[in-house]
Amino acid sequence: MRTRPLKVALLGCGVVGTEVARIMTTHADDLAARIGAPIELAGIAVRRPGKVRDGVDPALVTTDATALVKRGDIDVVIEVIGGIEPARTLITTAFEHGASVVSANKALLAEDGTTLYEAAERHERDLYFEAAVAGAIPLIRPLRESLAGDHVNRVLGIVNGTTNFILDRMDSAGAGYSEALDEATALGYAEADPTADVEGFDAAAKASILAGIAFHTRVRLDDVHREGITEVTSADLASAKRMGCTVKLLAICERAADGKSVTARVHPAMIPLSHPLASVREAYNAVFVEAEAAGQLMFYGPGAGGSPTASAVLGDLVAVCRNRLAEAKGPGESAYTRLPVSPMGDVVTRYHISLDVADKPGVLAQVAMVFAEHGVSIDTVRQKGKDGEASLVVVTHRAPDAALSGTVEALRGLDTVRGVASIMRVEGE
Ligand code: NDP
Ligand code: HSE
Repeated sequence: MRTRPLKVALLGCGVVGTEVARIMTTHADDLAARIGAPIELAGIAVRRPGKVRDGVDPALVTTDATALVKRGDIDVVIEVIGGIEPARTLITTAFEHGASVVSANKALLAEDGTTLYEAAERHERDLYFEAAVAGAIPLIRPLRESLAGDHVNRVLGIVNGTTNFILDRMDSAGAGYSEALDEATALGYAEADPTADVEGFDAAAKASILAGIAFHTRVRLDDVHREGITEVTSADLASAKRMGCTVKLLAICERAADGKSVTARVHPAMIPLSHPLASVREAYNAVFVEAEAAGQLMFYGPGAGGSPTASAVLGDLVAVCRNRLAEAKGPGESAYTRLPVSPMGDVVTRYHISLDVADKPGVLAQVAMVFAEHGVSIDTVRQKGKDGEASLVVVTHRAPDAALSGTVEALRGLDTVRGVASIMRVEGE
């Protein structure tokens, strides 16, 4: 074993960084044995140097992250600050000064992964980011390496722990939305700005990363159709229950049947209680990968939180350090297929639509006609009337999203339709 240590700079020492520092210290001997050289935590960059951080040597703490990555003797930089800047500049500076990088920053990878990949390539260094998608679950490495010989057609799953936690609490414990969000934040699951979680930005960033790797193409964050959970109501959850379903925020990345394009989307969806994703509770994540030769694979585990995320960061650290010692480099970006990303309107799926309508003769026929005119076939209709008003729940067969949008717009124009209470896609059947 080499005795000279590999030097590691830690950028950020919050929920994730604190756990990374702790494991690096407590498991130093095991990590050294696995890597083939000891690792030394050379510095920790933070914003508030005076903050008490359990188990962290205050002598290592600095507010000058730039000076730390420019030292020139750093072998690996771990970036767990989050956000776009200064994280992007710090990472590219780290490459320029000879370090490899491990990052958990999905927002940055989705926003500008190309800049990071290109900088890593230019300086012949590694860029690893297992922790950026689905916390502790090994997913990036299986997609980039284990499935490199296969042909992935679909990636579908729950990739945001916070929203899964909130929906689970609302569904199983009858908790209120805000109360559940506060709990998720206190447990360290939510992003610095939890809007990223509840509005689906975090899951969309992960979908963009997953689709890019799975289909060997570039999928920009803007290419991902995004809807969050802020409009999911307890009435939606109750309606789902009546149908033998539950509601989950799903990320779905698909290659078109003709193989010539891909789609990526994040939105709440009803899934049958019999589907394995329905039993994914709390902040757990689960992702199905469908590949031509392998068939269907399921990845499941803790999707957020300091310690699970640190596990993924440390796994990357070991891999990157091994590469440094071997003077080797892990996989870079693979985007050779250059597949176009189709718009949401082309996606074909089923829908659950709740309407408030006038309860009088001919209304049902009128509503059904609108669906027919837009080529959307109805599977089931349930009506419940009270005092001249009725609530109508329509579940459709599979139809293109554009046709459904046209249907809903036309329904809103009917005098007899008082309102469209909710529209939700139905997946996993
Ligand atoms: P936190 O907000 O808990 O920690 C961020 C850290 O970065 C803090 O230590 C903060 O310093 C430091 N920091 C902020 N700005 C600067 C700056 N300009 N210079 C130096 N340090 C700075 O975030 P998390 O640990 O939760 O998340 C970190 C990253 O990991 C994000 O990219 C996130 O998306 C990702 N991630 C998080 C998961 C989770 O469950 N929390 C799961 C998977 C990925 P200070 O402490 O002084 O404020
Ligand atoms: N805020 C993210 C989540 C952290 O809740 O899933 C893990 O990426």
